[in-house]
Amino acid sequence: MADSDKIAIVTGAARGIGLEIVRELLAAGMTVVGVDLNAELLEKLPEALGNPGDKLETRALNVTDPDGFTALVEEVADKHERIDVLVNNAGITRDGLLMRMTDEDWNLVLNVNLTSAFIGTRAVCRYMVRQKSGSIVNMASYSGLEGNRGQANYSASKAGMIGLTKTTAKELAGKNVRCNAVAPGFIQTEMTDVLPQQAKDMALAQIPLKRFGQPADIAHAVAFLASDASAYITGQVLSVDGGMHT
Ligand code: NAI
Repeated sequence: MADSDKIAIVTGAARGIGLEIVRELLAAGMTVVGVDLNAELLEKLPEALGNPGDKLETRALNVTDPDGFTALVEEVADKHERIDVLVNNAGITRDGLLMRMTDEDWNLVLNVNLTSAFIGTRAVCRYMVRQKSGSIVNMASYSGLEGNRGQANYSASKAGMIGLTKTTAKELAGKNVRCNAVAPGFIQTEMTDVLPQQAKDMALAQIPLKRFGQPADIAHAVAFLASDASAYITGQVLSVDGGMHT
């Protein structure tokens, strides 16, 4: 199947890294369904991407809603008669030191960042297994590989993403369905813009390539893992972090 005939779903598509992922997949010719909780921002997505017409569809959805996410996948599969790519990108932070972290902040981050990826993967893999092809890309993080002070919930969710990725890869490889993760380092988005300057300075000092990443740096890696250019790669975690994790 040529990339230009593929159908992709991207979560957390309305801004930041997700928006750039949508841009890259559209550039590869794919039809993309962009999903996000923020309906208002999502409405502006076509314009932000130069009005790609029928190639871009948008759906407002909370990816932690199992019925809603599963129904969305079914709807996309019914309409297009296939699903080739799922990018589980939606994610949030609720940072705080472990000893003061509330149950609510723990559960929310685990639900949005990790459980949603399980729900989406379970839903798409039915179709991918049947068509004997597919690529799932999960958004992990440097924090999931290394841990990070103040991010017990977030780093656990991202480490969980890596476990989910490797197990999905092993379970589905026999059906030619691949699953990989991308582990970004510090990327300039609205998620990181809110950090205090001191935290940004400390982060920069740890990056061998001496700059923060841009959303497009991540989107290029995701587009590669989504496409047939990576047909022999599965179960991997690709760090895109300026050389922090080696
Ligand atoms: P962002 O905050 O700019 O964008 C996240 C998007 O996800 C937003 O549009 C938001 O509305 C959406 N979203 C949040 N909860 C949702 C839900 N329950 N259902 C549907 N959509 C939801 O974040 P950014 O920086 O673009 O991050 C994207 C992914 O990359 C996240 O998984 C994040 O953890 C990961 N990441 C980001 C890094 C960074 O430095 N910015 C570093 C490592 C990983």
